[in-house]
Amino acid sequence: MSASRIIVALDFPTAAEAITFSRRVNPQDCRLKVGKELFTAAGPALIETLSKQGFDIFLDLKFHDIPNTVAGACRAAVQLGVWMLNVHASGGRAMMEAAREAVGAGAGRPLLIAVTLLTSMGPQEIAEVGIVGDAAGAVRRLALLTQSSGLDGVVCSAQESALLRAACGPGFKLVTPGIRPASSSKDDQQRVMTPAAAIAAGSDYLVIGRPVTQAADPVAALAAINREISSGKTA
Ligand code: C5P
Repeated sequence: MSASRIIVALDFPTAAEAITFSRRVNPQDCRLKVGKELFTAAGPALIETLSKQGFDIFLDLKFHDIPNTVAGACRAAVQLGVWMLNVHASGGRAMMEAAREAVGAGAGRPLLIAVTLLTSMGPQEIAEVGIVGDAAGAVRRLALLTQSSGLDGVVCSAQESALLRAACGPGFKLVTPGIRPASSSKDDQQRVMTPAAAIAAGSDYLVIGRPVTQAADPVAALAAINREISSGKTA
């Protein structure tokens, strides 16, 4: 298993492009995230290929359905041998408990985490779907529900990591996108944090896409980020 805290988001439309990238990087330097676009296009065969190359896979399909259906999807993900998978916390306690039961109790079981609120939603959209109070309060409430449903952690913005680390304690995994090395472009991310700052705020794993996938030399980009994390340089 990789020791790196970096999870590279494989935001590619085809298996061929994803595999071209994965052949260039080393499983010791990163884990890989396969999301809805790539999984819908490439399916379980791609997960098998990437796993055979030695990569830990985060299957980012954000399941949200009735408990029985989500449990079945989680069992299928366990069969694929993924390292981590996720559901939506807003599916509720029964759904999350069914998912947790489905991933099993063995030492090699995948980590099961939840999405609290989509960070793409602004205050008006959050209110429109009936969530009362501010986003930070809702994120905290959903993270605590996730924890008491037996899950391993949540996906959250690095801006929320300190709050959630304090609320949920040590050992609860915080997985954060929106990470940009000091030298990188922000792309379309609004609120970004550097890798070392996110780790200092309490994040366990960093989801990083374009700063690595679009780099002229992805191996060098990963090495620089891994160095930045170990040096603890936060700005
Ligand atoms: O290229 P970049 O580093 O911005 O990619 C970030 C990845 O994390 C993308 O796969 C994006 O969909 C995902 N993500 C995010 N913000 C969230 C949840 C997931 O950027 N709140």
